[in-house]
Amino acid sequence: MDKLVIEGGKPLSGTIVIQGAKNAALPILAASLLAEGTITIDHVPNLLDIDVMLNILRELGCRAEHKEGTVVLDTETAHTSHVPEPLMRQMRSSIFLMGPLLARFGEAQVYQPGGCAIGERKIDLHLEGLQALGAEIEELGNRIICRADKLKGADIHLSFPSVGATENIMMAAALAEGRTTISNAAREPEIQDLQGFLNAMGAKIMGAGTDTITIDGVQSLTPCRYQVIPDRIVAGTIMVAAAATRGQVTLQNTRPAHLSSLIHVMRRAGVQIAIDGDIIKVGSAARAKAVERIVTSPYPAFPTDLQSQVMVMLTLADGVSIMKETIFEGRLKHVDELTRMGADIRVDMNAAIIRGVPRLYGATVEATDLRAGAALVIAGLAAQGKTVVEQIHHIDRGYDRIETMLSRLGARISRYLPVPNNQ
Ligand code: UD1
Repeated sequence: MDKLVIEGGKPLSGTIVIQGAKNAALPILAASLLAEGTITIDHVPNLLDIDVMLNILRELGCRAEHKEGTVVLDTETAHTSHVPEPLMRQMRSSIFLMGPLLARFGEAQVYQPGGCAIGERKIDLHLEGLQALGAEIEELGNRIICRADKLKGADIHLSFPSVGATENIMMAAALAEGRTTISNAAREPEIQDLQGFLNAMGAKIMGAGTDTITIDGVQSLTPCRYQVIPDRIVAGTIMVAAAATRGQVTLQNTRPAHLSSLIHVMRRAGVQIAIDGDIIKVGSAARAKAVERIVTSPYPAFPTDLQSQVMVMLTLADGVSIMKETIFEGRLKHVDELTRMGADIRVDMNAAIIRGVPRLYGATVEATDLRAGAALVIAGLAAQGKTVVEQIHHIDRGYDRIETMLSRLGARISRYLPVPNNQ
């Protein structure tokens, strides 16, 4: 397995262009199945999760090419609604295919995406939403078969604003007969991007970004060209890395409005942040101040996907901070690894009580999931001495060559491939 080796203690400095958003690109790729023809999607990041989604689409019969950030997808040749189990297991986001397959073929055969390192991650709201649109759902062990001769618009209230369920329902409802209303919908920017893409193909959707989304079903959608929004979580990771190393970094291709909860927290910690159009400048010469209490919640509140990274900044802050995780129950696993680097963190139920220490020390640590892995990289950049981060395939799911990106900002970080065993 590849590892990252980091010589810490060097402030990050320089300019970086932020990649397209993984969490916007994945549902957009799935939604492409709703139209028949050649669809071009720009700013698609080069990531493991994107490779898995493209492989699934190929398995369904599509032709897909991903070159220099652009995906060209021919969906006309798609011929099956059955997602093979091994591919389904590689990525939870394959669940996004349920809505589009059901709308296009009247049937979707998928598998339970199973447990996940960060928590149970149920799909009941996805299934309830599709049932409300008229789908019949049969569960045979971990196999799920959805069928609907004709999807019909419905009023759907989500008991929790699930990002994935909102997206699955939007995609299925785009081709349903009549009007669908989703209340208590998730408001994440990626949902607005999905609305933008579907409307560019001729869908009639309003309200994404608010808690009520209205979808007026249309007969068919037509292929289009579309550009994915910048990745707010990658941008946030770099902003925090700049602050934790007391560096100066300029981020280009960002949407500062998508990062307002992080910017608010970082300013409270005393980090200097300047915004100019789509450019964010982050600078921090002094030690950060503790932030009394941060609670992860659905957008626009503080995102769970930046919880572990910000925790690293707080391990080095002056004072005691509290970070409460309310979205995923298994998302504090990085705490043990950070403790091995000298952090002083106590976990009480779903809250981490972080007592700032003057410095972290390099160690060999293991990425347990995507964002926890990114947090350990930040810790390694800020720490004194050498850090080895193992299990970095998790990080490759969401960051396009993180070591290249950080090296451009002056970090001393390299990827080591396993030495082949010749015996
Ligand atoms: C998406 C993001 C992920 C982010 C998360 C929360 C993608 C590809 N992934 O994941 O990076 O961390 O939003 O911002 O966009 N839940 C149910 N039943 C369901 C669905 C969800 O109980 O049917 C629960 C989950 O267990 C979890 C919470 O709702 O506790 C949030 O999940 P959800 O918003 O659906 O996240 P994802 O779409 O999986």
